[in-house]
Amino acid sequence: MATDIRSEFDRFTEGFRGEHRAARDIFLGIARALRDRDPARIGDLMAQANEGIGTHMQYEEEEMYPALASLYGDEYVERMLQDHDRAFGVAGRLMELSQHDPITDEDVEEGNRLVQGMLPHVTDCDGLVLAIEVIPEERQRRIFEARDRALAGGLTMMEWGERRGRAPLPPT
Ligand SMILES: [Fe+2]
Repeated sequence: MATDIRSEFDRFTEGFRGEHRAARDIFLGIARALRDRDPARIGDLMAQANEGIGTHMQYEEEEMYPALASLYGDEYVERMLQDHDRAFGVAGRLMELSQHDPITDEDVEEGNRLVQGMLPHVTDCDGLVLAIEVIPEERQRRIFEARDRALAGGLTMMEWGERRGRAPLPPT
């Protein structure tokens, strides 16, 4: 018998939320480390982002966002993809800011603004479980499987960035 969709959904939701929580903490941590003028800490957090965010973006882009086009329309999906394009630009810029010597008040402000700009994507994305819950079970399963596959593959954010075939967008 196929595994109960509800238990698969719950397992997905727990993992998915954990990934968003980690992304949230990394972004907030980077803003704080900039304020503290602590480039080493930013480097650590960036490494964590690189390790953890690539697989998340991969299954969202490969399977989850396309599956949700049936509910939200293609335009919404493109917007979520563009948020990811921008995340690559933001990561690059935060890295640059962290290497400024000294890190100025303007750098801290800019970093804070960049982080504030990314956070809504993280929390909005988490809400998509409510949408996943109502699409056909078969499609839900494909998302859950895509997540397991991506996690097993373990691509970093930089590796996924090269593979996804979209250019980073400059931070706005
Ligand atoms: Fe997400």
